[in-house]
Amino acid sequence: MAPSRPGFCVTLDPQVQDSLPVGTLIDDRYRLVRLLRKGGMGEIYAAEHLHTHKRVAIKLLREPWSREPVTRERFKREAQATSQIVHDHIVETLDFGVTPDGVCYLVMELLYGEDLQATLLREGRLPLRRAADIVMQICSALAEAHRHGIIHRDLKPANCFRVGFRGVQDFIKLIDFGIAKRLPRGVDNISQESVALTAEGTILGTSFYMAPEQSTGGPIDHRIDVYAAGVVLFQLVTGKLPFRGPTAADTYRLILTAEVPSARKTAPEAELPAALDELFRKALRKQPDKRYGSMDELGAAIAAVVSHASKDRPKGEGATAAVRDAAAANRRGLRMVGTVALAAALVTALVIALIWRM
Ligand SMILES: Nc1ncnc2c1ncn2[C@@H]1O[C@H](COP(=O)(O)OP(=O)(O)O)[C@@H](O)[C@H]1O
Ligand SMILES: [Mg+2]
Repeated sequence: MAPSRPGFCVTLDPQVQDSLPVGTLIDDRYRLVRLLRKGGMGEIYAAEHLHTHKRVAIKLLREPWSREPVTRERFKREAQATSQIVHDHIVETLDFGVTPDGVCYLVMELLYGEDLQATLLREGRLPLRRAADIVMQICSALAEAHRHGIIHRDLKPANCFRVGFRGVQDFIKLIDFGIAKRLPRGVDNISQESVALTAEGTILGTSFYMAPEQSTGGPIDHRIDVYAAGVVLFQLVTGKLPFRGPTAADTYRLILTAEVPSARKTAPEAELPAALDELFRKALRKQPDKRYGSMDELGAAIAAVVSHASKDRPKGEGATAAVRDAAAANRRGLRMVGTVALAAALVTALVIALIWRM
């Protein structure tokens, strides 16, 4: 990399994929403040607009990827796709450009929080109500994207960002439309339309969340996002993926041939309702036309399962878990009180013994 000084534009060396130093100016306008994440083809930084001082997130497509026409085009498509969709649950795109050095960049609102993958790693499976609330937000975001003729194609927990917003703990922002695909123009009622998109010849996406037709590079439509949202919900409520083999090839084989596992059996301790297994069987059907036809349909089905679950079981999963947590906390509290009492008794005995000897 050419010598770089804070406040000066840099020329990037194609061989070097180091992250850029804090203070680097992108296109004379955005000053990098902090590296947020390093990806395979670039990085995401927190940055600041030089004149307005607005804090933003900036995604850079680095050399040599920014010289590759296919990746460059895909990056541009991400910018176009997201800037068209204005939705509470989709990250806002603010700018896009190419520096004189040929580095493509995408400027977005800066999100404060963490992605769902990080939440899953830290917290493990989530209670049904919480998971359902998260996935229903994802459904409404994707429904809006689909109305714009855009399918995400890479829905997974790492691409769902959790931000704290107006006191809501799990306000979701969908990110990373990097491999999004546009449906042909003129398709305005996709739920009744069997629009098949020609695959690009390459399989794009993340294997665990891929619908069978996506994993084989076949024609795809918006129903691959329905499938992926089903996988995300399954993972959130059970802490496990429905189809996961020791290798990617094994995973693909399971996706193509295996029955949808029972979420209730996968996580018996979660006490999930039977209707949820039915929901997963439909959301993860191998044939797209047997799945829920739209994101709105899936969202409504999730809402119905949750509302039945709370009616059927007044002390439902959440309440049971809360009672269990409270009992555990009580036990911890009692143990603590016991320890303190014992320590106090020992100290008193010691003091009495000392006084006695004097
Ligand atoms: N606007 C943003 N604000 C804060 N963090 C972000 C933002 N966009 C992405 N990230 C973080 O960077 C990670 C990678 O971003 P993403 O757009 O998914 O790029 P990639 O194509 O490398 O997967 C995300 O999982 C998230 O943790
Ligand atoms: Mg991503």
